[in-house]
Amino acid sequence: MYQDATRTRFAARPDDLAIGRVLEEEAMSDAEISQSAVGTASDRLPRGRLAPGPRGHVVFGSLPDFRRDILGALFDAWQRHGDVVRFRLGGTIQAYLLVHPDHVAQVLQENHRNYRKDRLTYDRLKPTVGEGLLTSEGDLWLRQRRLIQPAFHRQRIASFGSLMVESTLAMLDRWEARYGDGQTFDVFAEMTRLALEIASKTLFGTSLSEDADRVGQAVSFASLHTNRRMQSYFELPLSLPLPGNRRFRREIRALDEVVYRLIGDRRRAGQRSDDLLSLLVDARDEATGEKMADHQLRDEVMTIMLAGHETTAVALSWTWYLLSRHPAVAARLRAELSDVLGGRPPRVEDLPRLPYTEMVVEEAMRLYPPAWILSRSPIADDVVGGYWIPADKMVMLCPYLTHRHSAFWENPEGFDPERFAPARSAGRPRYAYFPFGGGPRLCIGSGFAVQEARLVLATVAQRVRLDLAPGCSVRPQPLITLRPSSGIRMTMRRAEA
Ligand code: HEM
Repeated sequence: MYQDATRTRFAARPDDLAIGRVLEEEAMSDAEISQSAVGTASDRLPRGRLAPGPRGHVVFGSLPDFRRDILGALFDAWQRHGDVVRFRLGGTIQAYLLVHPDHVAQVLQENHRNYRKDRLTYDRLKPTVGEGLLTSEGDLWLRQRRLIQPAFHRQRIASFGSLMVESTLAMLDRWEARYGDGQTFDVFAEMTRLALEIASKTLFGTSLSEDADRVGQAVSFASLHTNRRMQSYFELPLSLPLPGNRRFRREIRALDEVVYRLIGDRRRAGQRSDDLLSLLVDARDEATGEKMADHQLRDEVMTIMLAGHETTAVALSWTWYLLSRHPAVAARLRAELSDVLGGRPPRVEDLPRLPYTEMVVEEAMRLYPPAWILSRSPIADDVVGGYWIPADKMVMLCPYLTHRHSAFWENPEGFDPERFAPARSAGRPRYAYFPFGGGPRLCIGSGFAVQEARLVLATVAQRVRLDLAPGCSVRPQPLITLRPSSGIRMTMRRAEA
């Protein structure tokens, strides 16, 4: 097992995030997972009924509908067939959509030992992120999660607060110099740049601002191409010299260049720092004393670089969009910021006194969860909501739908941050809202992302108002994340105007 050279042990300590404790208690090796799952699920459970679902195309089932409009197809099937829906996706491929929070809890938490990440989905991510934390399983995942977890300790995240605010203030200065005269700009591109800069400075100790546009372009194409491959009728190998595959490889090479440069620079610098990059570069195998293999290091850095900025940028972009469409919410937000901060930039210690700011972020991620779908497959047969879920089939959990379940959310399409106020949240099941997933595979960066989103929102909303540019129509594009399809064009003006 790798050991962090700067610490004597890296297993979660008592004051670590809750997930650290969950990991200690719940994580098992792959072999244990398989044994216990096969031994329990199939013995214990009678086969349930077959779930209802759309008939779809005679050969390809629902795949053509997914290719046309996957969010619409999932939503319609849910409305028509209920909380458990069975889809045929061509050949013997079947997928089960589970929408009820109890079903989500069963898969992610209560019976998580019986579920692995779905290969059909996650294997398609591997050409980009390899066997990093997001895609790996079993012993490798557990070892790496334990290694990386301390970098996301609550106190360490809090120490990033001032850097998060400084980067945002610098962005605002740039905006005022460039866009002060009412010129439109793409808020999604700006949030992507900002989130990449924050993640690279805090976690890797360097600014990637010069690479931001190149990384943004590579990530956009890699997402699009991966998504196309996920929804294609026939699986064609990536090695075929098709134009899309060639461009994909070019974009991955560009990302690799950035990642290997980061690693090389740190190794050459030779001096120890206590950020995530050093944690990874200095990690040693407990038994052999060997350093982490280069390809593993590359996969972890790539995973954190991509997962660590694109999702947060998406969350912030939808927040600005929603605020521009709901001026009363925006006014309430500014009133809270002005009462508590009185015009000065926020600090981490201010956050507990900015509950409305937090609720705005939560509500934006309810309506537009950046990770809009999660997929798993059961190791052994399971029964969910009375329906049989056969082993190895795909299980889709869709925060975008569960966050709109009318049994748990009043006026689900409305933008109403106060639904997250304690009194109105009482009694709502834990998994009615799961933008960061849950169980042992809970997002490792959730605390980082939430702090960043709240600080950026508080810093920007105090200084400027963002209005949707006239004629700009915005639609969600469900790729790996739920991106705005063609960015979000906005104009800015001073907040007091
Ligand atoms: C608003 C921002 C974010 C959202 C909505 C989000 C969402 C998620 C979700 C839903 C998962 C679970 C995926 C699954 O179970 O299949 C996940 C996992 C993960 N996220 Fe995030 N994430 C965000 C920000 C971040 C940040 C800032 C980082 C790192 C700096 C990060 C790194 C990761 C990693 C490494 C995993 C895999 C964890 C594991 O399986 O052990 N994420 N994220």
